[in-house]
Amino acid sequence: MQRIAVFTSGGDAPGMNACIRAVVRTGIAMGKEVYGIRRGYAGMIEEDLFRMEKSSVSNIIQLGGTILQSARSEEFKTPEGRKKAYEVLQKHGIEGVVAIGGDGTFRGARIFMDEYPDIALIGVPGTIDNDLYGTDFTIGYDTAINTAMNAIDNIKDTANAHNRLFFIEVMGRDAGFIALRSAIATGAEAVLIPEDKTEMEELINMLEDNFHKKKRASIVVVAEGDDAGGAFQIAAQVKEKCPQFDIRCTVLGHIQRGGRPTCMERVLASRLGMEAVKALLVGTKSVMVGEIHRQIVFTPFEQATKYHQRINPDLIEMVELLA
Ligand code: F6P
Repeated sequence: MQRIAVFTSGGDAPGMNACIRAVVRTGIAMGKEVYGIRRGYAGMIEEDLFRMEKSSVSNIIQLGGTILQSARSEEFKTPEGRKKAYEVLQKHGIEGVVAIGGDGTFRGARIFMDEYPDIALIGVPGTIDNDLYGTDFTIGYDTAINTAMNAIDNIKDTANAHNRLFFIEVMGRDAGFIALRSAIATGAEAVLIPEDKTEMEELINMLEDNFHKKKRASIVVVAEGDDAGGAFQIAAQVKEKCPQFDIRCTVLGHIQRGGRPTCMERVLASRLGMEAVKALLVGTKSVMVGEIHRQIVFTPFEQATKYHQRINPDLIEMVELLA
């Protein structure tokens, strides 16, 4: 294998640039030519790729976003789209690809590799949601929880100043990892996540109890995908039952997706990028590279896309116990 390529796909995540840098520099250090594909599978189909040198990734390790940009491609979901992508790789003599993204990216990769087994593809987990099976942490998660934590700290100041109850919505369409850790780190009164059924009555009882004990400033962190709804919907239900509460809502939104990656993020992203290339060059393919208990682990795409990382129930208990 003489020529490899790298792309980022799905929701961008801080640390993706550090990973791109590691892929490019490891590839070049091992005597290979490295190409960057812009905008994920969409760019692959549209032949939007370019040769990368060591200098192409200078001064990017500290940047959020992704210099290769990202996309979610509908066309790649079709056999015709994948055929076009394959032909582009063939035309440029690219035999190995590192895909940095989430489960949607790996689902696409798995089908692609079934259809075109002569292309070797390795995945690197990049999503702020941390919901991927096969790694303790995904690229982007550590930065996102620190961003959420800092924002919630700020909101706590004003919540305390006015004795207000805040519902703060964090990202996580199907997963409560961001909500759970940011809730623990900010000493929130409650956390509502999709993995744990929300009992509205229990929540209201707890908040009323606090109110009667004169604890009137409270923070409830809500994952956007919670079964009871988003922050505004939940707040409306609480207000209806407890009109005495002075309630405000904040949706943190895409602020969690950007920003300078933390130190942990940069190190993880660099390590996974380097290991992905090393593995690719010894013939490994159709796996996601992750880190579990600080060891590098390869999980077949089939499993990485079938299972989700599970929430540790001890952490949910911790929020309740320490509130
Ligand atoms: O998957 C990452 C994520 O940030 C989710 O937490 C969120 O629900 C989604 O992407 C938002 O996607 P978009 O940027 O396309 O609105």
